[in-house]
Amino acid sequence: MKLLVVGGGGREHAIIKKLKENPAVKSITCLPGNAGIAQDATCVPIKATDIDGIVQYVRENPVDFAVVAPDDPLALGCVDRLHALGVKCFGPNAAAARIEASKVFAKNLMKKYGIPTAAYEVFEDAEKALEYVWTCPIPVVVKADGLALGKGVVIAFSREEAEAAVKAAMLEGAFGASGSRIVVEEFLEGPEVSVLAFTDGHVVKPMVSSMDHKRVGDGDVGPNTGGMGTIAPNPCYTKEVAERCMKEIFLPTVAAMNAEGCPFKGCLYFGLMVTKDGPKVIEYNCRFGDPETQVVLPLLKSDLLTVMRAVEDETLADTPVEFSDGAACCVMLASGGYPGKYEKGKAIDLGKAESMAQIYHSGTARDGEGRLVTAGGRVLGVSCTADDLGTAIAKAYAAADEISWDGMILRRDIGKRALGILKENRQ
Ligand code: AMP
Ligand code: GLY
Repeated sequence: MKLLVVGGGGREHAIIKKLKENPAVKSITCLPGNAGIAQDATCVPIKATDIDGIVQYVRENPVDFAVVAPDDPLALGCVDRLHALGVKCFGPNAAAARIEASKVFAKNLMKKYGIPTAAYEVFEDAEKALEYVWTCPIPVVVKADGLALGKGVVIAFSREEAEAAVKAAMLEGAFGASGSRIVVEEFLEGPEVSVLAFTDGHVVKPMVSSMDHKRVGDGDVGPNTGGMGTIAPNPCYTKEVAERCMKEIFLPTVAAMNAEGCPFKGCLYFGLMVTKDGPKVIEYNCRFGDPETQVVLPLLKSDLLTVMRAVEDETLADTPVEFSDGAACCVMLASGGYPGKYEKGKAIDLGKAESMAQIYHSGTARDGEGRLVTAGGRVLGVSCTADDLGTAIAKAYAAADEISWDGMILRRDIGKRALGILKENRQ
């Protein structure tokens, strides 16, 4: 089979490595890919958001199956356009991708169908929003409606901060058009859990749970990033929580999307908070998470292509989705300055890391002399599996310590909190 993968980060690298385990896969083309993906697939420099370019490429180079991984092309209707060409795809169409692309759509869906989430108000008028943040309970969370690269969320611990966040989004255009509508919502407390789930619009098969580490600094300090590391499984996701999530969140969400006339097919990502009143939805994503995928897929025992085809063909009920009992840890190596300004083009020394861990490339390129160099904020994900979480973490850091470049940063505490929770649970 000839496969196409749209995207070019660590998540796509992990998906491609997993797809390649199926012997029927003869070739994989990745648009646009990166220097690491180029070792596993043929990369063609067409941007993931260039939907016309992607469609043109597929017309000239037919494929048997396509996986559209990032949020933007999904929201832009990449799957709709490929379906129109008769190409089978993994990923939701544009109507279903609104579950991530519009926070207002997602919040209204949850309210209408009784899916637990933070209480909220939607504002299109800055005056009204400003009035509201002077009366609502504090802390409060201000979110831009549209896609904002994970940066459209401000947790305000004072009225002044809330006011500044509303002004930045609605009056100063900090998130472009994404901020012309905002959601102001209740601040929730509790551990966060990410659950990626395969769904074909009929059944939901959750993958192993995971924990992201979103802040840039050790001890969860500093600005939010795309994710500085992940572990799986997440010890806060107990059997009881999982059962409640299935009954109160996962199945109702899939049913709600059907009832709204936009069935969701693909990977539905539930960003959850386990509050004292039970699990609640913080956000939905319409795709695999990055870097959650880099710990979840290494633990998948079933064949990924078979599962993805079953999602497209709506036969997921008959297709096993099994995970190993082990644990995984992915440590992100990033460019100094990320998530703010950073330099690119730094030569990367991998040492012996590739023989010690799975290295997923997020932002890498080759320079004129063919050397591997940095090309993004998040650069490499160093991922290891083991029978237990402690060993997976130790292995990932041993491999990460092999790697260096000028200005490299990493968090030293990925999985530390999870290990603490595991220890408490044993006592
Ligand atoms: P989002 O982009 O919606 O996932 O938000 C980014 C991060 O902000 C989440 O991972 C949470 O850590 C935090 N967050 C978002 N909404 C809330 C909320 N209602 N209460 C507390 N924290 C939140
Ligand atoms: N790691 C969070 C995300 O992919 O949105």
